[in-house]
Amino acid sequence: MIPDLSADLGFLKLKNPIIAASGTFGYGLEFTPFIDLNLLGGIAIKGLHFSPKEGNPPPRLVETPAGLINAIGLQGIGVEEFAIKVLPELRKYNTAILVNVCGTSDEEYAAVVEYLSPKKGISAFELNISCPNVKKNGLCPALSPEATYTLIKLAKKNSGLPIIAKLSPNVTDIVEIARSAQEAGADGISLVNTFLAMAVDIQTRKPKLANVLGGLSGPAIKPIALRMVYQVASQVKIPVIGMGGIMSAQDALEFLIVGARAVQVGTANLVDPDATVRIIRELEEYCQKNGIEKIEKVIGSIKIERTDR
Ligand SMILES: Cc1cc2nc3c(=O)[nH]c(=O)nc-3n(C[C@H](O)[C@H](O)[C@H](O)COP(=O)(O)O)c2cc1C
Repeated sequence: MIPDLSADLGFLKLKNPIIAASGTFGYGLEFTPFIDLNLLGGIAIKGLHFSPKEGNPPPRLVETPAGLINAIGLQGIGVEEFAIKVLPELRKYNTAILVNVCGTSDEEYAAVVEYLSPKKGISAFELNISCPNVKKNGLCPALSPEATYTLIKLAKKNSGLPIIAKLSPNVTDIVEIARSAQEAGADGISLVNTFLAMAVDIQTRKPKLANVLGGLSGPAIKPIALRMVYQVASQVKIPVIGMGGIMSAQDALEFLIVGARAVQVGTANLVDPDATVRIIRELEEYCQKNGIEKIEKVIGSIKIERTDR
């Protein structure tokens, strides 16, 4: 039996639920020496501001025992170079292209989606609302339900394509933020982005990152990310894309079982460039071994006897 791995996000059908996560997979084309992009459910490209952006000074990456702290600072090529040089190559592959969008103001997010909406080959926008937004006193919009609502509403108005709101885990009540995104008209939600973190060099007593703070990703965050995806998926109607520390099909399945309709693989790509394709293969094997004809059957199949969680 060849299992059906297809995933349905409502606004978008994927050949399988595995998407490469933004910032860990370049613009996709960098991975063509290692894997066949046609095998992927989708690719979330590195975040784009309207104009090119240099990012933070180095050091920008620190390894931790079970993860990675990054402070890349959303380095990117901007919309014009992406549309002219990257997209024509990327759309030759049979995989969904999610454009990760950044902004220093609500208007910049709106300008990015407006500029790129008519370009051929993009399946949806994933709004990285979990990055610093200068206009909102240095806070990122996904830390506040009101800021999330206003930004998503404006982006929806200016976009000709579906909008996925990518949420920050650095909040007390993730469900409240997810509900705001849904009310504002988001077509889907992806979570989680990285957890605010820090590392110190005990010899120099300086922070290991030039930016002082960074975002923690990788296996260290998986159980917390899973909890958040579970909470959100059970409380919103729009589809949820889960991520955070997925290294294997076992990890991916946990997210699907708690209700994610698709998942993203991030830090794993930096350890093993073949990670996405390996996980797809492992998912197929899991379905075969367990007599599961459609992976969709697994989604939201968590068995919980208590009803107060
Ligand atoms: C080096 C690096 C760069 C990232 N850049 C972005 C980005 O541009 N936009 C974004 O939304 N998320 C970005 N992320 C967050 C990832 O997409 C993902 O949400 C997070 O790392 C958790 O997944 P993981 O544990 O599988 O890496 C970045 C993560 C890393 C490690």
